[in-house]
Amino acid sequence: MKPPLVAGNWKMHGTEKEARRLAREIRRGLKTFRGVEIVLAPPFTALTAVHKAIRRSDLQLGGQDLHWEMEGAFTGEISPKMLRDSGCRYVIIGHSERRRLFYESDQSVNRKMAAALLAGLRPILCVGETWRERRTGKTARVIGRQLRGALKGLDKSVIEKIAVAYEPVWAIGTGRNATPGQASQAHRWIRGILKKLAGKRSAESCRILYGGSVRPENAGELAKAAEVDGLLVGGASLKAKDFLSIIRCFAPKSR
Ligand code: PGA
Repeated sequence: MKPPLVAGNWKMHGTEKEARRLAREIRRGLKTFRGVEIVLAPPFTALTAVHKAIRRSDLQLGGQDLHWEMEGAFTGEISPKMLRDSGCRYVIIGHSERRRLFYESDQSVNRKMAAALLAGLRPILCVGETWRERRTGKTARVIGRQLRGALKGLDKSVIEKIAVAYEPVWAIGTGRNATPGQASQAHRWIRGILKKLAGKRSAESCRILYGGSVRPENAGELAKAAEVDGLLVGGASLKAKDFLSIIRCFAPKSR
């Protein structure tokens, strides 16, 4: 059994100094419990500072995005090789903000997945429907399309190396989280597709995270929901106290 995974997506927040301080605070707070894998995904400019701040701890570093080429004339982009070099083990791919605001397609998500895996990074692949899609009964279809699109052409063994984050677009940054029931249902659909693609064992070893307005107040019930193997946290990961209490929901055996 893989441990639960809780990732903090800091988005475009924090100078180097602020990021270092936040990482240190989280590290300090984590001394008292174990059993949860934790990933911090600061902005690119703070990766090195956070890497230093979490050195020799159980915390992992993640990028928020990447380009699919290892190097070249791609102004403004960051390659998988560069993320590795900065100390990353994880990378978030296909976040809905990237899809919606930066026109990222299933095809580019697919190329990023392949490149990340080739470089030895573990992708946290984000999928999720808009409110309109949910209202019109298209949730399963949309998630299926995004998932199959992202994994197209990749060896089925990669499913053991990735995590999938179910992030309904209507829940991100809105204060309106999915109910535990809605999360479990979507996670079941995701697990079902993974089973079809790679078989039961691989599908079961893949962690499926929920993301979207996770707060200390709702993390407990989301953590208990069936099929929820972890959380991807945005806003609440910017406050050490809140992030720590969210993580604690997965670590009942505090020391
Ligand atoms: P939020 O963001 O927790 O602020 O809603 C989640 C995410 O975008 O991953």
